[in-house]
Amino acid sequence: MLTDSFGRTITYLRISLTDRCNLRCVYCMPADGIRWTPFADLLSDDQIVHIVEVAASLGIRKIRLTGGEPLVRPGILTLVRRIAAIPGIQDLSLTTNGILLENLAAPLAEAGLKRVNVSLDTLDKDKFKRITRFGDIERVWNGILAAERAGLSPLKLNAVIVRGLNADELPALARLTVEHPWHVRFIEIMPIGNTQEWGRGFPDSGTRYFSMQEMHSDLAVLNMVPVPSPTGSETARTFRIPGALGTVGFISPLGEHFCQNCNRLRLTSDGHLRSCLVIPEEVSLRAALRNGEPLEQLFLQAIANKPLQHDLLVSVPAGSQLGMSQIGG
Ligand code: 5AD
Ligand code: SF4
Repeated sequence: MLTDSFGRTITYLRISLTDRCNLRCVYCMPADGIRWTPFADLLSDDQIVHIVEVAASLGIRKIRLTGGEPLVRPGILTLVRRIAAIPGIQDLSLTTNGILLENLAAPLAEAGLKRVNVSLDTLDKDKFKRITRFGDIERVWNGILAAERAGLSPLKLNAVIVRGLNADELPALARLTVEHPWHVRFIEIMPIGNTQEWGRGFPDSGTRYFSMQEMHSDLAVLNMVPVPSPTGSETARTFRIPGALGTVGFISPLGEHFCQNCNRLRLTSDGHLRSCLVIPEEVSLRAALRNGEPLEQLFLQAIANKPLQHDLLVSVPAGSQLGMSQIGG
């Protein structure tokens, strides 16, 4: 078992399959993208499978595939099938923007994927296009419905809430859970990724943060009651609108972070282990992979570095300027 220096057992590995994306959400990337990792520097399928085998032997039970956008990775179905077949891996999920999900949902489920989280920050077609810079919300909706048909459940919808952009949609997004058994989760915007100005018509960088407390007060009319989280994840505080099929969760990396329950480790698309989203220390697996050396010690080293907590409200640690798409959100 992997246990860190604060007694937390690490059972969850998030893997960024690529830093590339077919959208450019304003809070994540500049309009012209970022300097993509050259394909040659991305982990190969064989390397990822090997890393997951080692991780599983050390006690990792849960894998989430992220990006960038994981569904733009060539050969995604084969990779999902191989990871799902690794003994010890009990839960395999994926975070996607949903653009490519309509056609992939059923084959992904068949390949062994258990569930998906889909990012959906707004219900408004034009606003969706503005936030993602060119995305078509219809495709995401069709992707969500295809995921539901394919049995990829519980289905979670993630909305990053930004003051002056989509905070006015909190009640409408929450009400999706009344008739759908979905788990809508509101995420506080973090000061990483694209912290620059976003352009005309967008809120200034200093005004965007909208706290979980503010979200709660805007949702007070819905009389939500606290419930246990649907997948036992400790990262969201979960509520239900009375009588609703789904739940409403709050992920508060800044206001009320969940570091004390954190059971996760991250693997970047270019082969580095990170014990925390916001702390720059990384352990490279690349040399060991190249030379066929064991990886176990490197996992232990990454976990030994795992900090007790971060305090993003106070400051972003120096050197942690990588965005979500590079670290794996
Ligand atoms: N703050 C909060 N969440 C973010 N994501 C990307 N950038 C940020 C940010 N700055 C989220 C996306 C998606 C996941 C991959 O990461 O909304 O749900
Ligand atoms: Fe792509 Fe997700 Fe970043 Fe949006 S938030 S640009 S969908 S990686």
